[in-house]
Amino acid sequence: MRTVVEQTVEEVDLAAAREVARQLLSRPESVLGLSTGSTVVGLYRALVKLHRECGVSFARAVTFNVDEYAGMAPGHPGSCRYRIFEQLLDQVDIRRENCHLPDGEAEDYEREARLYEQRIEQAGGIDLQILGIGMNGHIGFNEPGTPFEHDAHVAVISERSLSDKAEFYRRAGIAPRKAITLGIRSIMRTRRILLVAKGAAKREIMEKTLFGPVTPDVPASVLQLHPDTVVILDSAAAPGKSD
Ligand code: GLP
Repeated sequence: MRTVVEQTVEEVDLAAAREVARQLLSRPESVLGLSTGSTVVGLYRALVKLHRECGVSFARAVTFNVDEYAGMAPGHPGSCRYRIFEQLLDQVDIRRENCHLPDGEAEDYEREARLYEQRIEQAGGIDLQILGIGMNGHIGFNEPGTPFEHDAHVAVISERSLSDKAEFYRRAGIAPRKAITLGIRSIMRTRRILLVAKGAAKREIMEKTLFGPVTPDVPASVLQLHPDTVVILDSAAAPGKSD
């Protein structure tokens, strides 16, 4: 893992957006793995700016989001679909038919997870996967204890994750319990990974992720085994910093 520590959140956003831009410039038909959450909002803002001001194009790109809440209508403002279109996809020159998320309204969620995995494979696999991290080390919705050998599947969202995001869920008017998520094995198959973390609240979990044992108890720790992962942090989230 390569770790980059920036002083401010704005610098994190720009450095992360540049990683994505570099991917698109070197391979315009890249398959991007996207995620949602408060951490990546600024990254997408910076990326939209690079698109508008520097001509970074998504015209040939394909995207797959890492997760979606089960039972969530796609047009609901709390859905991952709504947010990724609002924050990024509607603001760049990507073709709508090239943007994919699991169908939160599928009749059979497990089947949808399997089909989603197949769609990624048919697209040639993910070139660059963008990830945030939960306070308990979850990536996508792979909560602590999830076996590393899971492909896309239906995950039960942990009580800890529900309470960490309680304010967001309350404001969005949603009460999710499950999600369709790429599994750890799906994430480990992606060619490059960009993990972003910000703020002092994430420092402890980043310490475990970067330097602790590789264990399903800290799902993100598996990224220590990935051959091409860059982690971009602000100084508050960087382990080793004293208050
Ligand atoms: C969510 C998502 C993750 C995201 C994480 C962190 O629940 N499933 O994909 O990375 O939690 O979210 P935030 O960036 O808001 O801290």
